[in-house]
Amino acid sequence: MPNVQLTKIKNIKYPFSKGDFTFLASAKSERGEEIVIVSFKDKKFVLQIKKRENDYIVKADKITSILPIWIIQEAIKIFAQKSQGEILFSNVESKRKKEKKVSPYLKDIEFFFNEFDPKNKKILVEIGFGSGRHLLYQAKKNPSYIIIGLEIHRPSIDQILRRCEVEGVENILVINYDARIFLEFLHSNSVEKIFLHFPVPWDKKPHRRVMGEDFINETIRVLQKGGTLELRTDSENYFRYSLDLFLNLSKTSINIHKNRELEISSKYEDRWRRLNKNIYDLIFINEEISPENEKPSPLLFENSVLFSKIKKKFKNEIIREKDFFIRFERIFEIDNYSGVLKISFGAYQKSEHFYLYISKDNIEYIPNNILPSKANQKAHKRLKEWIYG
Ligand SMILES: C[S@@+](CC[C@H](N)C(=O)[O-])C[C@H]1O[C@@H](n2cnc3c(N)ncnc32)[C@H](O)[C@@H]1O
Repeated sequence: MPNVQLTKIKNIKYPFSKGDFTFLASAKSERGEEIVIVSFKDKKFVLQIKKRENDYIVKADKITSILPIWIIQEAIKIFAQKSQGEILFSNVESKRKKEKKVSPYLKDIEFFFNEFDPKNKKILVEIGFGSGRHLLYQAKKNPSYIIIGLEIHRPSIDQILRRCEVEGVENILVINYDARIFLEFLHSNSVEKIFLHFPVPWDKKPHRRVMGEDFINETIRVLQKGGTLELRTDSENYFRYSLDLFLNLSKTSINIHKNRELEISSKYEDRWRRLNKNIYDLIFINEEISPENEKPSPLLFENSVLFSKIKKKFKNEIIREKDFFIRFERIFEIDNYSGVLKISFGAYQKSEHFYLYISKDNIEYIPNNILPSKANQKAHKRLKEWIYG
């Protein structure tokens, strides 16, 4: 992380600007921690200032360091110049490194939310592709399709991206995201097949399973009429649990197989076969046409609020609801009218960490790219009730 070590920080008056950077305010917590809010063009981020016995460390804040690293380095450099302190150590002077080449097949959730247009595309989705054998097989077998691969295990992602490059496979889009939330961001009736092969059975923590009521509802929404969800598992328990979920629907159409041979065998399948385990397939066939999902609006605040009011009610606490939580972590004061809260919220399986910047006439999230997923929308609504209530 970029940082500098300074002998002193003296007489800085906020706000001050240099080039595209504006240092808006410094805020302090009761424990004496200090942060500085910086804006660069339309983005805001936070620098942390740590006072030690004989010096100060100014460093990037992890939560908000989503911008290219040179922007944060530049901000720290400007701050160090303004501090009137002597620089004892710095790693922000290094030349701007070449941006790491990002694979064109690796996409983030913003891409699926803002850009991905399924029109005239045939789409398959594989959840938890692991070693990627089946994903590559589907991509090669169906060159006119786009195969979306989901994984939460980063090394598996890197491995498949390398293989796409080496083998010249161009119809795969890979995303590092939790499948239980991802489907929300796909258009209704847009997917032909979803593969869920050998999911982690989570026998002791069933709430962590990919398969669940909400997942099935989203599956029905995103599958085309006639589209299928293919669960393949060695766990009879997971198979029966899934079967029950589908039988709980008012109407359902399912095919079941035991020890069906496929043209391709995944790494996990090979392992279970060597142990002579049974393999179960549950194939759900969707028969519904679903209404299009309305694109949710960005998460915004309509009015500001007096910071002193927030300060009175702030405490370190967690609000827990059925499908989201809000955790109030820290409060930093600028003055009576403004300050910053450090908060995390969202779905239990995918939370967002951010600062809430409350100024005289505005409230905003830093960083300001929190996606309006269902859980985040609920948490945002509840947070507004807390703020304005
Ligand atoms: C048992 S492995 C199976 C891998 C592969 N399908 C196979 O058959 O070899 C399960 C995979 O699912 C991934 N996974 C687990 N939970 C997930 C989730 N919620 N969303 C996306 N991937 C997940 C894990 O990282 C792991 O790679």
